[in-house]
Order: sequence, then C-alpha cells, then structure tokens
Amino acid sequence: MATRATQVPGTCLVTTPPGRASGPGVNGWLPGQRTGFHDHGRSAGAFTVAQGCLRERTAPGGRPEPTGATLLPGSVRSFGPWYVHDVGNGSAAPAVSVHAYSPPLTTMDRFAVSGGRLVRASVETAGQW
Ligand SMILES: [Fe+2]
Repeated sequence: MATRATQVPGTCLVTTPPGRASGPGVNGWLPGQRTGFHDHGRSAGAFTVAQGCLRERTAPGGRPEPTGATLLPGSVRSFGPWYVHDVGNGSAAPAVSVHAYSPPLTTMDRFAVSGGRLVRASVETAGQW
C-alpha cells in the first residue's frame, strides 16, 4: 500500500495511509526531539513505543509533571479527547512509535508553561502539519 508522508512539528516523520487525515502513523524520534505540551482536540488516541525509549509528561490540574514516565518498547498509552501531554526522546538513541487517533486528528492545541502552569499558546489544524 502506498503511503504519504507528513511532518508533525517538533517531532518526526509520519507515514499515513492515503485517504486518512491521521494515523495509524509511524513516528521516528531523534535524540532530543520532543513535541512540547499539546492536546489532540476531540480525538482520542493511543500510541506504543516500537523501538527505543520515550518519555511522556502530563500536566495534572494544568501543572506539568517535573519528570514524567519512561516508556520502554511495548509500552502503550491511550487517552481520550483533550488529553494533554509532552512526549520526547531524552535518550541518546533514536526511537520509533506508532500512533492512532479516532476520529482522525484535525486540531491540536499547543501549550506554553507560564508560572508553572500550562497556557494555551496556539491552535494547529491538520493542514499545518
Ligand atoms: Fe500527542
């Protein structure tokens, strides 16, 4: 099956089956790459680490966790709409993850940290990544 490739800002190369706005997609993460805090709009989703090691930080009550959770190969995270997290590769080796969203990902809010709390900084739509 042919695939098309799109670039998700701050992360990685995503390959997506034709005719689908998002996922399942394969993300490659170079050491140091991270998404920054973002949500997935009204989409629920899940991802798994296929290779390497990722770190996920969430922000309970709008306050970012200081360190987050280490996700080893086989780790699975699933989430509902409006879930906010920051995912990155803090290791020295590349990582690969597989992501899926339902309904397809169409918007993402991006957040900055101000005074120890998340503040909505921008909204991105599918055409922007
Ligand atoms: Fe995400």
